[in-house]
Amino acid sequence: MTTSLKQIETELETLQQEAESAIAQIKTLEGLEDLRILYFGKKGQLSQILRAMGKLSVEDRPHVGSLSNEVKDALQAQLDQKRNDLQLAKIEAQLAAETLDVTMPGVGRPLGHIHPLNGTIDKILDIFVGLGYTVATGPQVETDYYNFEALNIPPDHPARDMQDTFFFSDGRLLRTHTSPVQIRYMEKQQPPIKIVAPGRVYRRDTVDATHSAVFHQVEILLVAQGISFAHLRGTIKAFISQMFGEDLPIRFRASYFPFTEPSAEVDIQWKGKWLEVLGCGMVDPNVLKTVGYDPEIYTGFAAGFGVERFAMVLHQIDDIRRLYSSDLRFLNQF
Ligand code: DAH
Repeated sequence: MTTSLKQIETELETLQQEAESAIAQIKTLEGLEDLRILYFGKKGQLSQILRAMGKLSVEDRPHVGSLSNEVKDALQAQLDQKRNDLQLAKIEAQLAAETLDVTMPGVGRPLGHIHPLNGTIDKILDIFVGLGYTVATGPQVETDYYNFEALNIPPDHPARDMQDTFFFSDGRLLRTHTSPVQIRYMEKQQPPIKIVAPGRVYRRDTVDATHSAVFHQVEILLVAQGISFAHLRGTIKAFISQMFGEDLPIRFRASYFPFTEPSAEVDIQWKGKWLEVLGCGMVDPNVLKTVGYDPEIYTGFAAGFGVERFAMVLHQIDDIRRLYSSDLRFLNQF
């Protein structure tokens, strides 16, 4: 019996030592729970030792009972302490991981740019809106009527050769200029009218440094009573000086457009050279008649200019193709 008592005491002592060092070494809450089950679980080591108590004498039992309670309490206290420590460490680790370092440099998001063509269109529109014009637009796929006929360019008229055209098989076409917007607007509105119409236009041109089959124009049209060439001239002068930020020398050269009479081309002196920048004229009475305006009462002027031309002059761009190439090394300069 005594050996048995001694044996249990030793076993309890060994268990306590082993458990204490195991608890001290454990690093995770999960590992700690495994230890608890190993020592205190129903099939755990402590239960196994206590099961042997039945073999002890009645006098020895209380002694072993209190001894095992002591061991159990001591280990339980260490388990609890360790669990607390581990939980605290876990929370601290979480907090440290979630800390926001407000001194860290941010992630730079590159800003986009307005494309030089759009920038030029915006600038032109701003100037004319400032002069009281309304922005108007029209379709890029046009009929022969709006693109040519209503603009006083009948079939077989030689002026058609000035604008080599992309036709669809059904007879419609890609508009060759923004002038059809004049007709569409006048059909719907009564004078006085003042419009500025930006848009994309198409011609069968061979692409090179100064030509593109797709380009952009801005059209202006003003029709009211008592409008003369002097109004046209003053408007163009005001536009050019706002566009270039200075009063550049400007010259009107007699020219020909079927939809204006008289017609002129305008050159500006820029960096010592004369540059042609736009076509213009007094709206031909035939055009006014076509849309139902009485040319005896109303007169008007119109002008059309190439946006690429202005963009290239203003930004000193040497090749029109750069405007369409989406090359960021080029675009980032604007
Ligand atoms: N539509 C002409 C072209 O594309 C430009 C033009 C000239 C427009 C004279 C006008 C104008 O409104 O009056 O070549």
